[in-house]
Amino acid sequence: MTDHEMQHYYNLRAPEYEQIYYRDNPDRANELAREAACLLKLANSKQIVELACGTGYWTSVMSDSAAEITASDISYEMLDEARRKNYGCPTRFVKADIYNSIFRLPRADVVVLGFWFSHHPRHQFDLLFDQLESCVRKDGRIWLMDNNPPAEGPENVSVRTDEFGNNYKTRRLDDGREFTIMKNYFSEPELRAIFESRYEIERLYFGEYYWTVALKLPQK
Ligand SMILES: C[S@@+](CC[C@H](N)C(=O)[O-])C[C@H]1O[C@@H](n2cnc3c(N)ncnc32)[C@H](O)[C@@H]1O
Repeated sequence: MTDHEMQHYYNLRAPEYEQIYYRDNPDRANELAREAACLLKLANSKQIVELACGTGYWTSVMSDSAAEITASDISYEMLDEARRKNYGCPTRFVKADIYNSIFRLPRADVVVLGFWFSHHPRHQFDLLFDQLESCVRKDGRIWLMDNNPPAEGPENVSVRTDEFGNNYKTRRLDDGREFTIMKNYFSEPELRAIFESRYEIERLYFGEYYWTVALKLPQK
């Protein structure tokens, strides 16, 4: 499951990653702000585990209402960026691979995964859901967020698709270096079908630029 090219790409991109959140587009900024407000509400007084936290953008948002956050990422470079920020609640950062080492993380009220679903292979959703469930309490919530193609503007060109329907595109760093990475996009009905196969959807927002979902685990 470990995609070394993707990891290498994100390690190098760490110092420039947050540019994606500050591009000059008021409509996109409004969607982000609205979803940040929803996440803040969901996180209120909760124990949070965040996977693939990157530079801590969403960690920082949640920290204004959460009780405590354990945020993890596979990349030391990303974690270094994240550690530079100030957080509004006790927050610790841990190096962890979503697919291998998250068993060491505590079980949280809410498990948060931002902008990773689109990098996960379409034919292996159950693997990702198993991992997410292993760090959330039975009555907890899973919160996912990702982007739709317009958020990437003209850069959104497919290089190829594989036999499972996974999409690949070229990503360019500020210094011009190029990487080919998996990046999938979903329609709203497609997302509903994927999530409803396993969860109760508490809230699904599908905007022009972004989608977010809050999922409840099935009560057995
Ligand atoms: C698109 S960024 C998302 C960062 C952050 N969640 C956000 O929404 O701003 C993807 C992140 O996944 C991390 N990552 C890549 N492979 C991973 C893995 N196997 N386990 C944990 N994190 C991983 C990268 O280092 C990067 O920080």
